[in-house]
Amino acid sequence: MAILITGGCGYIGSHTCIEMLQAGYDIVVIDNYYNSKPEALRRVKELSGKEFPFYECDIRDAEGLKKIFAAHKIEAVIHFAGLKAVGESVRIPLTYYDNNVGGTVTLCQVMSEMGCKRMVFSSSATVYGNANTSPLTEDMPTGAVTNAYGRTKFMIEGILHDLCNSDPEWSAVILRYFNPIGAHISGRIGEDPNGIPNNLMPYVSQVAIGKLSQLSVFGDDYDTPDGTGVRDYIHVVDLAKGHVKAVDYALAHTGDEAINLGTGNGCSVLQLVNAFKAANGVDVPYVVAPRRPGDIGTCFSDPSKAARLLGWKAEKTVEDMCRDSWRWQSQNPKGYDE
Ligand code: NAD
Ligand code: WQD
Repeated sequence: MAILITGGCGYIGSHTCIEMLQAGYDIVVIDNYYNSKPEALRRVKELSGKEFPFYECDIRDAEGLKKIFAAHKIEAVIHFAGLKAVGESVRIPLTYYDNNVGGTVTLCQVMSEMGCKRMVFSSSATVYGNANTSPLTEDMPTGAVTNAYGRTKFMIEGILHDLCNSDPEWSAVILRYFNPIGAHISGRIGEDPNGIPNNLMPYVSQVAIGKLSQLSVFGDDYDTPDGTGVRDYIHVVDLAKGHVKAVDYALAHTGDEAINLGTGNGCSVLQLVNAFKAANGVDVPYVVAPRRPGDIGTCFSDPSKAARLLGWKAEKTVEDMCRDSWRWQSQNPKGYDE
């Protein structure tokens, strides 16, 4: 029996492949390389010392998926495949609905048809929108999203809920990630964004290495201790370990559960910048710029449901995250393009 990992070549997927292999699971990986490179999985194999089947396949390709389910005994799916750039989603919403929502519907249809009814899904804290106060708990209202990307996650959560209600054999663990950063401790795999990064940590790393001249801190007038935005940064390896626990849970339960994966700790932009400088002995020049449209001041999790249901807790510190992000960036200044 194996676990199918969609989008397993991407940032979170590649780290999860390693943790799943280390936990003794057999895996099968699919990806269409839209936002990733084959080199990532080559390095996963190198780091884990294990081989596993890979298929270049789009989750919207029902026939391609069926062949993969027919060739392997798949008992559950970890579903990472999706587009994730917030700004792009506002410009090309239909592409996001087609890929993320349409792709997930096709995947679930094939899974049902092939008798595999257990899924761990990559959702996001973005579903809490701007209407709730942190710490965010899973029972808070969702859906007040500010962009098409966020709406795809909200819609997919609803689809999985309806699916589980319609068929008592289905199991869906909906993981709401907070802000994943960091990289594998080896420095061999990490986040490899195309072009100028949108997210804070890859931007900070590229400033530190001199690829970008300075960081713009988006707003210093939020209602936070130092005025800059507060987020719940979580080490990608902790996040990956959460997926192993979520698969265990999905194999043992039916129905749908939404579960936060965060540390429960808020960290401001300036705290992160200072932690990065201190951990790595590098400079990160910055200027304060206007707020970024759509941003909220504070967003952090209550992670107690994950502890209760999955027996999982984040273990790594912000210092670990900064050190590991920098090791990846400094050892791979061009990402996977060496
Ligand atoms: P990523 O872009 O690195 O990985 C996603 C992978 O999916 C890529 O390798 C891409 O090529 C692949 N993919 C996209 N569309 C596909 C399709 N139609 N068929 C097959 N493969 C496809 O992103 P990531 O940061 O690893 O995120 C993984 C998942 O977690 C995504 O669903 C994302 O929305 C979600 N998520 C990410 C974050 C974050 O900050 N990184 C936060 C919350 C949720
Ligand atoms: C973090 C903080 C910025 C860049 C996004 C998505 C969310 C989820 C994770 C997928 C904020 C500030 C940033 C910069 C800055 N992804 N910042 N200068 O916006 O919390 O979440 O990624 O699900 O859906 O919205 O993350 O890393 O972009 O920003 O000052 O150049 O850093 O204002 O306070 P965000 P981020």
